[in-house]
Amino acid sequence: MAELAPLMDSLIDAARAARLNAHAPYSRFKVGAAILGESGRVFVGANVENAAYPQGQCAESSAIGAMVAAGDRRIRMIVVMGGEPADPLCTPCGGCRQRIREFAAPDTPIHVCDAAGLRQSFVLEVLLPQSFGPDNLTF
Ligand code: THU
Repeated sequence: MAELAPLMDSLIDAARAARLNAHAPYSRFKVGAAILGESGRVFVGANVENAAYPQGQCAESSAIGAMVAAGDRRIRMIVVMGGEPADPLCTPCGGCRQRIREFAAPDTPIHVCDAAGLRQSFVLEVLLPQSFGPDNLTF
């Protein structure tokens, strides 16, 4: 875990840049995400809203899609950036906690940021306790 700390700042920068590209004309709430994959590569995503509202996609979901398309399958660390310092924490939504779960471990760090930088760090198990995951499906 300690060896990941120096990489957090570059992930925060990557999430900040992705957030600027968010397509959020309906909520006006831009979110960026950055994942450190098992290969050491960084994958980013932004929320992509849609005029047909339910078709919108979260930043975390976009970043996971980029990671999978590039061939990585493990999330070593993820940064999520949304909102301003005066806003409530932009923790991943329930659906994205489950999407992260698919590719992460209970102790995978999830760093939640606002536009000014790091606000609070969690591990997956804290945000999604007693979760259902790939281990439940042993055929
Ligand atoms: N959103 C994310 O992209 N990630 C989160 O963790 C929370 C919410 C997006 C979805 C929607 O486009 C906007 O923020 C407002 O809910």
